Amino acid sequence: MNFKKKILCIGAGYVGGPTMAMIARKCPDYKVTVVDINPARIAAWNSADIPIYEPGLDEVVQEARGRNLFFSTDVDAGIREADIIFVAVNTPTKTFGEGAGKAADLQYWEKTARQILANSEKGKIIVEKSTLPVRTAEAMERILNTNDKGLHFEVLSNPEFLAEGTAIADLEAPDRVLIGSRETPEGLQARSEVVDIYAHWVPKKSIIESNVWSAELSKLVANAFLAQRVSSINSISALCEKTEADVGEVAYAIGTDSRIGTKFLKASVGFGGSCFQKDILNLVYICQSYGLTAVADYWESVVKLNDWQQQRFVQTILSSMFNTVAGKRIAVLGFAFKADTGDTRESPAISVVRNLVGERAAVVVTDPKALPHAKADLKDLGDTVEFEDDVYKACEGAHAIAILTEWKQYKDLDFARILKSMQSPAFIFDGRNLLDHQALYKMGFNVFAIGKSPLRHF
Ligand SMILES: NC(=O)c1ccc[n+]([C@@H]2O[C@H](COP(=O)([O-])OP(=O)(O)OC[C@H]3O[C@@H](n4cnc5c(N)ncnc54)[C@H](O)[C@@H]3O)[C@@H](O)[C@H]2O)c1
Repeated sequence: MNFKKKILCIGAGYVGGPTMAMIARKCPDYKVTVVDINPARIAAWNSADIPIYEPGLDEVVQEARGRNLFFSTDVDAGIREADIIFVAVNTPTKTFGEGAGKAADLQYWEKTARQILANSEKGKIIVEKSTLPVRTAEAMERILNTNDKGLHFEVLSNPEFLAEGTAIADLEAPDRVLIGSRETPEGLQARSEVVDIYAHWVPKKSIIESNVWSAELSKLVANAFLAQRVSSINSISALCEKTEADVGEVAYAIGTDSRIGTKFLKASVGFGGSCFQKDILNLVYICQSYGLTAVADYWESVVKLNDWQQQRFVQTILSSMFNTVAGKRIAVLGFAFKADTGDTRESPAISVVRNLVGERAAVVVTDPKALPHAKADLKDLGDTVEFEDDVYKACEGAHAIAILTEWKQYKDLDFARILKSMQSPAFIFDGRNLLDHQALYKMGFNVFAIGKSPLRHF
C-alpha cells in the first residue's frame, strides 16, 4: 500500500503506544511505526496481551495493527524510512550529578537525537512528544543540524496531555492539541504537516499553534497547575480534620464557583504517577537555574505538601491504632497510582507501604491490575509484604484496611463479610474518600477518611 507519509515514534510506552495507535486509527493514509529498545515491550505490543492496561486501547490496537500500525525493535530502519519522527522516550528525574533529584535526565533523549542523525539520509520533522525542559528543542536542533550531510531537521514540540486511565477518551476527543514550532518559513511548513495529522479527527479550533518554547513550557505548567490543586485541597484536608469541617463539602462549595471549577479538588492520600512530581521538580530546577528562587520555592512546596500528606496518612493509622502497628495485619486495597491503570510509578502506595513495614506491620497488598508492578516496586522488602489477588482473602484476619486506589469495585465489596473476617476493633483508612463512611461505621468499622472527622466506636 502507498502511504501518504511515514510516521515513526521512538518509545513504545504509556504515551508512544496509545498516541500512535490513535493516529493510526484516525489516519489510515499514514504508515505509523512504533519502535523501542525494549524487545519484551515490542513483543507484547505485537501479541494479544498488550503491555499497558488502558480501557479501550485493545480495540484501537487491534483495528490498526498490521494495517498501518507496526511495532518493531529496528529503530535504525524505522528512522531511515520516516518523514516525521515523534520522540516519546522516558525523561525521568536525574539521579546523579548536577541537578540530581530535580533536573530531567536527558540521556535517552540525546541518544535518540544522535541515532536519528546517524540513520538519516534526508531531512525530517522531529516532534518532541516526551515532556522536556523548556528550550530542549534548541539542543536537539544543534545536535541534528550540525552535520556534514547537508541535512536540515525541524524540531517541533507537541506535548501529550493524555491522562492514564482515560487515555483513549482523551486522545479521541482532546481538550486541545498543542503544536509549537519555530516561526520561520521551514518551521511553519513543518508545523502545518503535524497539524494535518491531527486535523484528521480533531476540530481545527482545538489545535493550538504556538512558538516552540511556549509549547514545551505549557506541558510543565499544566502539570504543575493540576498538581497544585491537589496539594491545595490536601492542605485544607488537614485543617478540616482539626475543625470538624468536611473537605468534601468545602471542595463542593468552592468548586461551584465557576472561576475555580470542580475538577482536581478531591482530597486524597496524595497524587502519584510518573509525571506530576517529575515535571514540577523539573520546573523548579529550571527556575533555580534562571535565578528565580521565589518561583522555584513556590512550586517546590506543591511536591513537599504531597510528601507530607502521605506521611500524615501513615501517622493517622499509627496514632488511631493505639500507636503501634507492629505485627498487625494491614490490608492495602489498591496499589496503582490511580484507578483504571496498572501503573504504579510514584504511587503514594509505595511510600505508605514502606512506612508501614518500617513500623513492622504485616502488610498485604491487593490490586486488580497493578500487582506485578507492586511486586517489582517492593522487591527489596522480600517476604515482609504479602501479595494477594483476592481482596477478601487479603482482608481476612486484618486489623485494618487502607484504601489507596479509587478502584470502583472496592465500593461494591461485601463489607459485612469482610468485617466478620477481620480482627476487632476493625479499622478502615480511606485514602481516597471512596467509600460510604457512615454505612461502614454503622456496620461496626472505625472509619478514618481524609479531611473528615473520624468515626470511631471508642
Ligand atoms: N505516562 C503519562 O501519562 C504521560 C503523559 C504525558 C506525557 N508523558 C511524557 O511522555 C514521555 C514518555 O512517558 P511514558 O510514560 O510513555 O514512558 P515509558 O517509560 O512508559 O516509555 C518510554 C519508552 O521509551 C523507550 N526508550 C528509551 N530510550 C529509547 C531509545 N533510545 N530508543 C527507543 N526506545 C527508547 C523505553 O524502553 C520505554 O519503553 C515522558 O517524557 C513523560 O513525561 C507521559
